[in-house]
Amino acid sequence: ATPVIVAIDGPSGTGKSSTSKAVAIRLGLGFLDTGAQYRAMTWWMLSNGIDVDDPAAVAAASAKPTIVSGTDPQAPTITVDGTDVSVPIRGREVTAAVSAVSAVPEVRARITELQRSIAAEAPAGIVVEGRDIGTTVLPNADLKVFLTASPEARAARRSGELRGKEAADLASTREALIKRDAADAGRKTSPMAKAADAVEVDTTELTLDEVVACVVGLVEERR
Ligand code: C5P
Repeated sequence: ATPVIVAIDGPSGTGKSSTSKAVAIRLGLGFLDTGAQYRAMTWWMLSNGIDVDDPAAVAAASAKPTIVSGTDPQAPTITVDGTDVSVPIRGREVTAAVSAVSAVPEVRARITELQRSIAAEAPAGIVVEGRDIGTTVLPNADLKVFLTASPEARAARRSGELRGKEAADLASTREALIKRDAADAGRKTSPMAKAADAVEVDTTELTLDEVVACVVGLVEERR
């Protein structure tokens, strides 16, 4: 069979990662979390004292880190220069800085190239989740899904994911999430957007299993 490429985009807290991983497992495909790549780039900038609010400094440094993503949906991995960064990239500092770093065109060009080569090399195909996968990274994907959910549902899901000291109250999580989405949707280069040929799925009232069944069904319709 020819490889199947599935693009899953949408704002944070819509269940993109959980859905994408589960769909990949069900269909025997690879899985790529592109947000983790932007987070890894941001972690490297912060670790190396680059001012993330200085786009020229970020652009100049953007070719330096080597970011490697493992695409096994059962155990996705991400390293920067050989260091496993899967834990620190979920921290508050990286989350607060990632939209500024990901808005820099040089960063996007480099990471987009990486994403395309990973997708092209996936033997059975891949589920790629992000913000601009259907519009920019993989415009020829076999299926494009755009996940949405109410701000309340998204904030509740995000708070549930944050643990211990990082666990902020619902109101400030909601605030931070709305701010990040506005930055991601409003940037000049490859903003978060629903592709014209994407299927929109509102997950507010759906369980994870229901969303997964819906996306698997959409893939099967297209095979
Ligand atoms: O999905 P996640 O919340 O981990 O993404 C982190 C950030 O990475 C987003 O807020 C956005 O700034 C950036 N991103 C992006 N393009 C993508 C995926 C993520 O700009 N395809």
